[in-house]
Amino acid sequence: RIINLADYRPTDFVLERVDLTFELDPTETKCTSRMLFHRREGAATDAPLVLDGDELNMTGLLYDGMPMEAERFTEEDDVLTIRELPETGSFEITVDTVINPEANTQLMGLYRTNGIYCTQCEAEGFRRITYFYDRPDVLCVYTVNIIADKESCPLLLSNGNFLGGAGYGEGKHFAAWFDPHPKPSYLFALVAGDLGVVEDSFTTMSGREVVLKIYVEHGKEPRAAYAMDALKRSMKWDEDVFGREYDLDIFMIVAVSDFNMGAMENKGLNVFNDKYVLADPDTATDADYANIEAIIAHEYFHNWTGNRITCRDWFQLCLKEGLTVYRDHEFSADQRSRAVKRIAEVRHLKSEQFPEDAGPLAHPVRPTKYREINNFYTTTVYEKGSEVTRMIATILGAELFKQGMDLYFERHDGDAATIEDFVKCFEDASGRDLSQFSLWYHQAGTPLVTVSSAFDQAKGVFTLSFEQMVPPTPGQSAKEPMHIPLRFGLLLADGTEAQPRAIEGAEVTGDVLHLTKRQQTVTFSGIPTRPVVTLNRGFSAPINLHFEQPLADLAHVARHDSDFFARWQALNDIALPNLVEAARGARNAGEIAVDPLLADTLIAVAGDETLEPAFRAQILALPSEADVAREHGGNNDPDAIRAGREAVLEVVAHKGAELFAALFDRNHTRGGFTPDAASAGKRALRNAALGYLAIAEGRPDRAAKAFETADNMTDLSAALTVLAHRFPDAPQTAEALEAFRARFADNALVIDKWFSIQSTIPGYGALDRVRALMESPLFNRSNPNRVRALVGTFAFSNPTGFNRADGAGYRFLAEQILEIDPKNPQLAARILTSMRSWRALEDVRSDHARNALRTIAAGEKLSSDVSDIVERMLKA
Ligand code: ARG
Ligand code: ZN
Repeated sequence: RIINLADYRPTDFVLERVDLTFELDPTETKCTSRMLFHRREGAATDAPLVLDGDELNMTGLLYDGMPMEAERFTEEDDVLTIRELPETGSFEITVDTVINPEANTQLMGLYRTNGIYCTQCEAEGFRRITYFYDRPDVLCVYTVNIIADKESCPLLLSNGNFLGGAGYGEGKHFAAWFDPHPKPSYLFALVAGDLGVVEDSFTTMSGREVVLKIYVEHGKEPRAAYAMDALKRSMKWDEDVFGREYDLDIFMIVAVSDFNMGAMENKGLNVFNDKYVLADPDTATDADYANIEAIIAHEYFHNWTGNRITCRDWFQLCLKEGLTVYRDHEFSADQRSRAVKRIAEVRHLKSEQFPEDAGPLAHPVRPTKYREINNFYTTTVYEKGSEVTRMIATILGAELFKQGMDLYFERHDGDAATIEDFVKCFEDASGRDLSQFSLWYHQAGTPLVTVSSAFDQAKGVFTLSFEQMVPPTPGQSAKEPMHIPLRFGLLLADGTEAQPRAIEGAEVTGDVLHLTKRQQTVTFSGIPTRPVVTLNRGFSAPINLHFEQPLADLAHVARHDSDFFARWQALNDIALPNLVEAARGARNAGEIAVDPLLADTLIAVAGDETLEPAFRAQILALPSEADVAREHGGNNDPDAIRAGREAVLEVVAHKGAELFAALFDRNHTRGGFTPDAASAGKRALRNAALGYLAIAEGRPDRAAKAFETADNMTDLSAALTVLAHRFPDAPQTAEALEAFRARFADNALVIDKWFSIQSTIPGYGALDRVRALMESPLFNRSNPNRVRALVGTFAFSNPTGFNRADGAGYRFLAEQILEIDPKNPQLAARILTSMRSWRALEDVRSDHARNALRTIAAGEKLSSDVSDIVERMLKA
């Protein structure tokens, strides 16, 4: 069944309030839901009440407290329909259901993980608890009563403020919660069990004291300290930057170990994958700390962008997600190095979102139809959605953007809003027409902008000619030209920037050039000497830019641009064609030529002590094999791509060996680990140097020593990765892997790293290694983090291992998907998206990939999650 945006209409009844009572039991939880409704004004007087359900066991149905006559309702195909309801006035419907949390392996609705009851309701999990208007535009206040065994569940939590609790019969107790803020069902949460807590408080800008609690497994409390710190910084930042204050007396976070995604912003009671809460120097890497900071902020920021203002329907998902990602990106940029953060964001966008936008799963940021909403929690909705928000800020400028946001909060607080509502606020605040800009929400595909330049020395006129093209995507063959905001600069040889006397052919605001036509020629007059143009500074627009600049120009940008993102981009633009060429060379068994300029510029920038280490580390991380595949654009052979890239790495490693040894020594962070960005940057630079040294030296000794002497998880796992990936057969590697396993056997999150590092060892043998690891007693099929760490990481992040020319990797994936799907469809569907670029493979591999996809498609009783993905992937 396909859901269409065009079919949206409000419900026939208004839900005024709901009282939920849960009597918790591992296999027979009783839920009673009392809902007060009235017929909506203007709704047909004979319209029935139609409520959503999913695999429910209904044991009772009352109308105003009396059993409902059998002929007044039907329960069919997961829908409860109630007829003959009053034309006016309120009435009460009570639904009793019995739920088996233990058996809920989908992890949607109410389930049990390690003895903890918890819920996940977004997007459509609430209907697995009881029949309901399970859609985001139905907002009401909730009262929740929880009854449970006192001993196993001392803790009883739900949304909002705590009303009270007491004993309740033999060995039981109860607690009541009331959430005064009307909310849709996807924001409901319940948690019960026995957990440890870290407590703190935050005083809001108006002087209210908010209690903060983070619940984790007993004994893990010290590992929640960083998350708490990040939470307090997030709360302060949202007040300072967006003027948003928290609105309940208490804010709680619960960390659980079985969770399908990163985290969930339930009102006042966020539930987190413990991977994004728990950290200490011995067990978490700098990347883990940065992720925790970002995700804690993300979920907290949802309180305004998502909860206070929610979505009218799931087509508007980017209204809350794109905006909230934008907000968490800005937060991290303010907490850390803005330039480095931006580089990391763009790397992520290009490696995850660009392939999605270029393949069979491409869809607009605001889609118009879906079959399974769970499959639309995508990097397009999240990351491209964030970039679209960023472009609004770029086009309007900081001041007007802020005014637009203020208007949005003022106008839509308490609403279930749409993208149109959001954009209108910026139009009204700025007086600017954003209708062409809105195509970013509606047209899928990454725009390609082709540029050429000319300089007329005699006239002092510099000309840029632009042509934009949005590629066809599934369901959208023809595209309109977009409004593309490009930050730019014209660099002169002396390092200053040209200030043109006049610019014609495009609107320019500040340093932003606005492309709006398919073809556009822009002239800059009053330019003394030939400038080096730097385009799309800060990645102001999420586009592919095709601009053949002389390598010397790129090197100039890489060394001198005032925008550090542009410097990184320029080096990338030098490296990528080189890597693509190298891949061609490797494939044809020919010469692999490496432009000396590439290695020289890389080494010069990496060695520039005036630059921050984190930036230099980003420079040293050459475009990945996946980046090269994308640039190559089709007929891809992952083995050749790797061979070519390895050849380039060799050249850089040997040329820069001396520098790398110095960087390795000088950037050792000794004596007490701190997770701050500056220290993390030093570790990143040191470990990047270690990677090159392993190549230059061709021996595992240095990495083995680094492994032995590491005093934090960042250095330890980096050294282990170098050992495993560069020297998989060395005895030191086997020893290190075993030492790591033995030391961390009881820490699930660290053991996930142990699996991931091994599943990404490149080459043909990876699959056998993965299969062997699945037999390890540490492998656990029912834990999503573990499955992702081994199977997911192999499929997503091991190009040569997964894309074996004999197709064995794809057949393995098919087998895994069919095995995971019956238990956890969301997990299966997510891992399956690792094949989203299969059509860009060379023929032998793509034939194997197609066959594997067909095997999946032919599976019995596929979930709607997996069948939706596999069918879209196979559709021509
Ligand atoms: N709203 C959550 C977040 O972005 C993610 C929920 C994902 N839900 C899903 N069904 N995949 O923070
Ligand atoms: Zn979110």
